[in-house]
Amino acid sequence: MIAAPPFIVGNWKMNGLGPAVGEALEIAKAAHVKRSAARVALCPPATLIERMVRGLAGLPVEIGGQDCSAQDSGAFTGEVAARMLADAGASLVIVGHSERRTYHAETDQMVAAKALAASAAGLEPIICVGETQAEHAAGRALAVVAAQIAASVPVALAGRPLTLAYEPVWAIGTGLVPTAGEIEEVHALARVTLLTILGAAGKGVAILYGGSVKPSNIREILAVPEVGGALVGSASLRAADFTAIIEAACA
Ligand code: PGA
Repeated sequence: MIAAPPFIVGNWKMNGLGPAVGEALEIAKAAHVKRSAARVALCPPATLIERMVRGLAGLPVEIGGQDCSAQDSGAFTGEVAARMLADAGASLVIVGHSERRTYHAETDQMVAAKALAASAAGLEPIICVGETQAEHAAGRALAVVAAQIAASVPVALAGRPLTLAYEPVWAIGTGLVPTAGEIEEVHALARVTLLTILGAAGKGVAILYGGSVKPSNIREILAVPEVGGALVGSASLRAADFTAIIEAACA
Protein backbone atom coordinates (compact mmCIF):
# COMPACT_ATOMS: atom_id res chain seq x y z
CA MET A 1 0.00 0.00 0.00
CA ILE A 2 1.30 3.47 -0.88
CA ALA A 3 1.30 5.71 2.20
CA ALA A 4 -0.98 8.76 1.98
CA PRO A 5 0.87 12.07 1.60
CA PRO A 6 1.12 14.10 4.83
CA PHE A 7 -1.94 16.26 5.49
CA ILE A 8 -0.89 19.76 6.57
CA VAL A 9 -3.72 21.95 7.90
CA GLY A 10 -3.40 25.62 8.88
CA ASN A 11 -5.76 26.93 11.55
CA TRP A 12 -5.84 30.71 11.40
CA LYS A 13 -8.10 31.01 14.46
CA MET A 14 -9.51 34.57 14.84
CA ASN A 15 -6.90 36.16 12.59
CA GLY A 16 -7.09 37.57 9.10
CA LEU A 17 -8.79 40.41 7.20
CA GLY A 18 -9.23 40.73 3.44
CA PRO A 19 -5.58 41.38 2.55
CA ALA A 20 -4.62 38.05 4.20
CA VAL A 21 -6.00 36.29 1.12
CA GLY A 22 -2.72 37.38 -0.51
CA GLU A 23 -0.81 35.46 2.17
CA ALA A 24 -2.97 32.40 1.46
CA LEU A 25 -2.23 32.74 -2.24
CA GLU A 26 1.51 32.57 -1.52
CA ILE A 27 0.92 29.39 0.49
CA ALA A 28 -1.21 27.93 -2.29
CA LYS A 29 1.50 28.56 -4.87
CA ALA A 30 3.98 26.62 -2.74
CA ALA A 31 1.41 23.84 -2.31
CA HIS A 32 0.98 23.75 -6.08
CA VAL A 33 4.67 23.02 -6.53
CA LYS A 34 4.43 20.18 -4.01
CA ARG A 35 0.95 19.04 -4.96
CA SER A 36 1.63 15.34 -5.23
CA ALA A 37 3.72 15.17 -2.05
CA ALA A 38 1.38 16.79 0.48
CA ARG A 39 -2.30 17.47 1.02
CA VAL A 40 -2.73 21.08 2.22
CA ALA A 41 -5.70 22.86 3.79
CA LEU A 42 -6.29 26.29 5.31
CA CYS A 43 -9.01 27.08 7.84
CA PRO A 44 -9.47 30.88 7.89
CA PRO A 45 -12.16 32.73 9.84
CA ALA A 46 -15.62 32.08 8.34
CA THR A 47 -15.70 35.61 6.89
CA LEU A 48 -12.76 34.80 4.60
CA ILE A 49 -13.85 31.37 3.38
CA GLU A 50 -15.63 32.49 0.23
CA ARG A 51 -12.92 35.02 -0.71
CA MET A 52 -10.24 32.39 -0.21
CA VAL A 53 -12.10 29.80 -2.25
CA ARG A 54 -12.32 32.32 -5.11
CA GLY A 55 -8.79 33.67 -4.68
CA LEU A 56 -7.19 30.24 -4.63
CA ALA A 57 -9.34 28.67 -7.36
CA GLY A 58 -7.43 26.04 -9.30
CA LEU A 59 -4.69 25.74 -6.67
CA PRO A 60 -4.38 22.59 -4.54
CA VAL A 61 -5.39 24.01 -1.15
CA GLU A 62 -8.61 22.90 0.50
CA ILE A 63 -10.48 25.52 2.51
CA GLY A 64 -12.18 24.70 5.78
CA GLY A 65 -14.09 26.19 8.69
CA GLN A 66 -12.89 26.22 12.30
CA ASP A 67 -16.19 25.15 13.86
CA CYS A 68 -19.81 24.56 12.87
CA SER A 69 -23.17 24.29 14.56
CA ALA A 70 -24.64 20.86 15.20
CA GLN A 71 -27.97 22.31 14.00
CA ASP A 72 -29.05 22.56 10.41
CA SER A 73 -30.70 26.00 10.55
CA GLY A 74 -32.94 28.08 12.79
CA ALA A 75 -32.90 30.48 15.72
CA PHE A 76 -29.27 30.10 16.79
CA THR A 77 -27.92 33.66 16.66
CA GLY A 78 -24.25 33.85 15.80
CA GLU A 79 -23.90 30.22 14.79
CA VAL A 80 -22.79 28.98 11.37
CA ALA A 81 -24.28 25.73 10.03
CA ALA A 82 -22.10 23.14 8.32
CA ARG A 83 -24.22 23.52 5.18
CA MET A 84 -23.42 27.25 5.18
CA LEU A 85 -19.69 26.52 5.25
CA ALA A 86 -20.16 24.08 2.37
CA ASP A 87 -22.24 26.70 0.55
CA ALA A 88 -19.34 29.18 0.96
CA GLY A 89 -17.04 26.63 -0.69
CA ALA A 90 -15.46 24.90 2.32
CA SER A 91 -14.70 21.20 2.02
CA LEU A 92 -13.74 20.49 5.62
CA VAL A 93 -14.20 21.81 9.14
CA ILE A 94 -12.33 21.57 12.44
CA VAL A 95 -14.57 20.47 15.33
CA GLY A 96 -13.79 20.16 19.02
CA HIS A 97 -10.68 22.34 19.02
CA SER A 98 -9.50 22.78 22.61
CA GLU A 99 -10.25 26.52 22.44
CA ARG A 100 -13.89 25.64 21.64
CA ARG A 101 -13.93 23.01 24.39
CA THR A 102 -12.43 25.48 26.91
CA TYR A 103 -14.05 28.83 26.03
CA HIS A 104 -17.39 27.49 24.83
CA ALA A 105 -17.71 24.49 27.15
CA GLU A 106 -18.06 22.05 24.27
CA THR A 107 -18.43 18.47 25.45
CA ASP A 108 -17.46 15.31 23.57
CA GLN A 109 -21.16 14.77 22.84
CA MET A 110 -21.46 18.24 21.26
CA VAL A 111 -18.30 17.60 19.24
CA ALA A 112 -19.70 14.29 17.98
CA ALA A 113 -22.95 16.02 16.97
CA LYS A 114 -20.99 18.69 15.09
CA ALA A 115 -18.93 16.03 13.32
CA LEU A 116 -22.12 14.31 12.19
CA ALA A 117 -23.62 17.59 10.98
CA ALA A 118 -20.42 18.39 9.10
CA SER A 119 -20.34 15.01 7.41
CA ALA A 120 -24.04 15.23 6.50
CA ALA A 121 -23.28 18.57 4.82
CA GLY A 122 -20.53 16.96 2.76
CA LEU A 123 -17.66 18.38 4.80
CA GLU A 124 -14.75 16.32 6.15
CA PRO A 125 -14.63 16.83 9.91
CA ILE A 126 -11.24 17.20 11.62
CA ILE A 127 -12.06 16.07 15.16
CA CYS A 128 -9.63 17.43 17.80
CA VAL A 129 -8.72 15.79 21.08
CA GLY A 130 -5.95 16.34 23.63
CA GLU A 131 -5.17 16.34 27.32
CA THR A 132 -4.62 19.40 29.52
CA GLN A 133 -1.39 20.24 31.36
CA ALA A 134 -2.83 18.89 34.62
CA GLU A 135 -3.91 15.64 32.99
CA HIS A 136 -0.51 15.29 31.35
CA ALA A 137 1.30 15.93 34.63
CA ALA A 138 -0.89 13.32 36.33
CA GLY A 139 0.11 10.72 33.73
CA ARG A 140 -3.46 10.56 32.41
CA ALA A 141 -2.85 11.60 28.78
CA LEU A 142 -3.55 8.19 27.28
CA ALA A 143 -6.73 7.57 29.26
CA VAL A 144 -8.07 11.07 28.59
CA VAL A 145 -7.38 10.98 24.85
CA ALA A 146 -8.85 7.48 24.42
CA ALA A 147 -12.02 8.54 26.26
CA GLN A 148 -12.31 11.73 24.18
CA ILE A 149 -11.94 9.82 20.93
CA ALA A 150 -14.46 7.18 22.01
CA ALA A 151 -17.04 9.88 22.82
CA SER A 152 -16.26 12.40 20.04
CA VAL A 153 -15.94 10.15 16.98
CA PRO A 154 -19.38 8.93 15.82
CA VAL A 155 -19.64 5.31 14.69
CA ALA A 156 -21.78 6.54 11.78
CA LEU A 157 -18.71 8.18 10.24
CA ALA A 158 -17.11 4.80 9.44
CA GLY A 159 -16.02 4.90 5.82
CA ARG A 160 -16.76 8.64 5.43
CA PRO A 161 -14.03 11.28 4.98
CA LEU A 162 -12.69 11.98 8.47
CA THR A 163 -9.47 13.19 10.11
CA LEU A 164 -8.46 13.12 13.78
CA ALA A 165 -6.09 15.65 15.36
CA TYR A 166 -4.22 15.03 18.60
CA GLU A 167 -3.38 18.38 20.16
CA PRO A 168 -2.10 18.37 23.74
CA VAL A 169 -3.66 21.52 25.20
CA TRP A 170 -0.40 22.41 26.96
CA ALA A 171 1.46 22.40 23.64
CA ILE A 172 -0.90 24.80 21.84
CA GLY A 173 0.66 28.23 21.40
CA THR A 174 3.25 27.59 24.10
CA GLY A 175 6.31 26.46 22.17
CA LEU A 176 6.24 23.24 24.22
CA VAL A 177 6.11 19.97 22.27
CA PRO A 178 5.84 16.41 23.61
CA THR A 179 8.76 14.08 22.95
CA ALA A 180 8.61 11.89 19.85
CA GLY A 181 8.07 8.95 22.20
CA GLU A 182 5.07 10.62 23.84
CA ILE A 183 3.51 11.49 20.49
CA GLU A 184 4.08 7.92 19.29
CA GLU A 185 2.37 6.45 22.34
CA VAL A 186 -0.72 8.62 22.01
CA HIS A 187 -1.00 8.15 18.24
CA ALA A 188 -0.69 4.38 18.57
CA LEU A 189 -3.51 4.37 21.12
CA ALA A 190 -5.55 6.73 18.93
CA ARG A 191 -5.24 4.28 16.04
CA VAL A 192 -6.36 1.34 18.19
CA THR A 193 -9.29 3.39 19.49
CA LEU A 194 -10.33 4.41 15.96
CA LEU A 195 -10.21 0.76 14.88
CA THR A 196 -12.39 -0.18 17.84
CA ILE A 197 -14.99 2.47 16.99
CA LEU A 198 -14.93 2.39 13.20
CA GLY A 199 -13.76 -1.15 12.46
CA ALA A 200 -11.49 -1.55 9.45
CA ALA A 201 -12.43 1.99 8.32
CA GLY A 202 -10.40 3.28 11.26
CA LYS A 203 -7.29 2.34 9.34
CA GLY A 204 -7.71 5.05 6.72
CA VAL A 205 -8.27 7.96 9.12
CA ALA A 206 -5.29 10.35 9.14
CA ILE A 207 -4.17 11.25 12.66
CA LEU A 208 -2.61 14.72 12.75
CA TYR A 209 -0.39 16.10 15.51
CA GLY A 210 -0.96 19.72 16.57
CA GLY A 211 0.65 22.07 19.10
CA SER A 212 3.62 24.39 18.43
CA VAL A 213 4.45 22.83 15.05
CA LYS A 214 7.12 24.92 13.30
CA PRO A 215 9.38 24.61 10.26
CA SER A 216 12.14 23.42 12.62
CA ASN A 217 10.23 20.49 14.16
CA ILE A 218 7.85 19.32 11.42
CA ARG A 219 10.23 16.70 9.99
CA GLU A 220 10.82 15.06 13.35
CA ILE A 221 7.09 15.04 14.13
CA LEU A 222 6.09 13.56 10.76
CA ALA A 223 8.68 10.80 11.22
CA VAL A 224 6.76 9.47 14.25
CA PRO A 225 4.76 6.32 13.42
CA GLU A 226 1.02 6.95 12.91
CA VAL A 227 1.49 10.72 12.50
CA GLY A 228 -0.31 11.46 9.24
CA GLY A 229 0.18 15.21 9.18
CA ALA A 230 -0.01 18.35 11.29
CA LEU A 231 -2.54 20.92 12.47
CA VAL A 232 -0.66 24.22 12.58
CA GLY A 233 -1.79 27.40 14.36
CA SER A 234 0.47 30.42 14.61
CA ALA A 235 3.04 29.13 12.10
CA SER A 236 0.29 28.95 9.43
CA LEU A 237 -0.40 32.69 9.51
CA ARG A 238 2.71 33.78 7.65
CA ALA A 239 3.30 32.37 4.17
CA ALA A 240 7.05 32.11 4.81
CA ASP A 241 6.60 29.81 7.82
CA PHE A 242 3.73 27.72 6.49
CA THR A 243 5.44 27.30 3.13
CA ALA A 244 8.58 26.14 4.94
CA ILE A 245 6.45 23.59 6.81
CA ILE A 246 4.87 22.32 3.58
CA GLU A 247 8.27 22.06 1.94
CA ALA A 248 9.82 20.26 4.92
CA ALA A 249 6.86 17.87 5.01
CA CYS A 250 7.56 16.96 1.39
CA ALA A 251 11.32 16.61 1.70
P1 PGA B 1 -0.18 26.39 17.54
O1 PGA B 1 -1.75 26.04 17.50
O2 PGA B 1 0.44 25.76 16.30
O3 PGA B 1 -0.13 27.89 17.50
O4 PGA B 1 0.38 25.82 18.78
C1 PGA B 1 -2.18 24.76 17.07
C2 PGA B 1 -3.69 24.70 17.12
O5 PGA B 1 -4.30 25.28 18.03
O6 PGA B 1 -4.32 24.07 16.25
